[in-house]
Amino acid sequence: MLPKINFTTTKAYQYLADHYININQTDIKALFAEDPNRFNKFSILFEDILFDYSKNRINDETMALLIQLAKECKLDEAIKAMFNGEKINETEGREVLHIALRNQSNTPILVDGKDVMPEVNAVLAKMEKFSNAIISGDWKGYTGKQITDVVNIGIGGSDLGPVMVTEALKHYKTRLNLHFVSNVDGTHIAETLKAVDPETTLFLVASKTFTTQETMSNANTARSWFLNQGATEADIAKHFAALSTNAKDVAAFGIDTENMFEFWDWVGGRYSLWSAIGLSISLGIGFDNFKQLLAGAHATDKHFSSVPFEENVPVILGMLGVWYINFFGAETQAILPYDQYLHRFAAYFQQGDMESNGKYVDRNGEIVMYETGPVIWGEPGTNGQHAFYQLIHQGTKLIPSDFIAPAQSLNPLGDHHPILLSNFFAQTEALMNGKDEEEVVAELTKAGKTHDEIAKLAPFKVFEGNRPTNSILLKKVTPFSLGSLIAVYEHKIFVQGIIWNIFSFDQWGVELGKQLAQKIQPELKGNEPVNSHDSSTNGLINQYKDWR
Ligand code: F6P
Repeated sequence: MLPKINFTTTKAYQYLADHYININQTDIKALFAEDPNRFNKFSILFEDILFDYSKNRINDETMALLIQLAKECKLDEAIKAMFNGEKINETEGREVLHIALRNQSNTPILVDGKDVMPEVNAVLAKMEKFSNAIISGDWKGYTGKQITDVVNIGIGGSDLGPVMVTEALKHYKTRLNLHFVSNVDGTHIAETLKAVDPETTLFLVASKTFTTQETMSNANTARSWFLNQGATEADIAKHFAALSTNAKDVAAFGIDTENMFEFWDWVGGRYSLWSAIGLSISLGIGFDNFKQLLAGAHATDKHFSSVPFEENVPVILGMLGVWYINFFGAETQAILPYDQYLHRFAAYFQQGDMESNGKYVDRNGEIVMYETGPVIWGEPGTNGQHAFYQLIHQGTKLIPSDFIAPAQSLNPLGDHHPILLSNFFAQTEALMNGKDEEEVVAELTKAGKTHDEIAKLAPFKVFEGNRPTNSILLKKVTPFSLGSLIAVYEHKIFVQGIIWNIFSFDQWGVELGKQLAQKIQPELKGNEPVNSHDSSTNGLINQYKDWR
């Protein structure tokens, strides 16, 4: 059971509310000037990743109070409850054990008194054997050819994680070409099928429930396409595999359960890339690299569950988020990777964070009187700089931003990487320091502007600064470092969910739209006008019927 404490009733919250008034009048720049040790104090080197959180609107007192808040909310008990396999996903009556999937120490993890590690290891061994057979070419398609292309059909957590990781680790790619189909829009599957050959393509139907409408529609279309190209039902076994918890429906679909890679109810969809859902990752980068990804995440799990809060990266990142969201009123959180390979990282954590902490009912079933999960967004730098950074620098909103970059490029071409990294360093400095009027005037004077011109232009060229950032510098993007980093963000989400007293591992909010779509689908048949909805929905459906 998780603690059920309203964090706004804690002592630490009251102290933080008072303390906020002081900090809100203080510049980060001034805090650096006051304390030459600030960087050392507010940065952590963990597994070849440097987390620098010194460019935040914090001082010693802020951090002490945020840690006190975490303690008063019994975060330590909550962490133990997750790692001990308690049913902390209370509204679905499930354990939350993605940590077991990457438990490379192999210590027993009990669910209802039974160690889950033997099953986890058995599926991993099956994934290894299968991946090796496909990659080596020993596995042959129905006409005796090697598999060249893998199409993962899934959506949400059964798509976003594998897409993000295989993009992030493209440098480590095997000979296989990976494709991902998620959208129920027929265009997605149609365009993908144009690019592949049925004789050499393996389809992975990735769905925890094996009932998700989008995935099943795409899987059925792929199956029909395959059978229409000259293959038979018996050939499906060589070209279709399922990644699911639902053996019954997998068999009903016609997939040999030998080709089913199982996982369990205690794996949340958006935390499932470490499970059989990661088969496309294992095929895309090889099983050994997939294991490294798990090992990296396991290192973070050990850190998160054992290191004091004062030095605990996910705890610190989570509590900094609480500081901005609940005291400064920040509504969004930007994730800005200075690495092209990480171009889906923010999109991945849109689901990870927003599906987890987008909740307005607390663990007591009461409506919360405070803000919970932020809007997560971001694009790779430097593209973002030329798109939306203007608003981060000079807009009216406070946008805490995480900057992520590798020190070593996997493609060290000419000066590209130093140029990229100079932007990474410059942006957080600029966001913190801004540019005051004096500097602007000096700059314009030097450029030969007249007194009048300077007076007119100066207000627009002033940057307030004092905008908070975290800098996350990885030595290099490797399967291990990526695994560690993903797990840091996962646990950060957990920390915040505990403080906000919400359940982070259900997603009832996704259900309503799904139910309504199912009601509307039959109404789209036939030409008679629909009048069972509000006038807008009726009007839209009827116009659609007219135009289709
Ligand atoms: O978006 C809702 C959701 O249930 C996600 O949590 C999940 O990742 C996704 O749908 C896909 O579900 P499934 O793997 O069961 O097809």
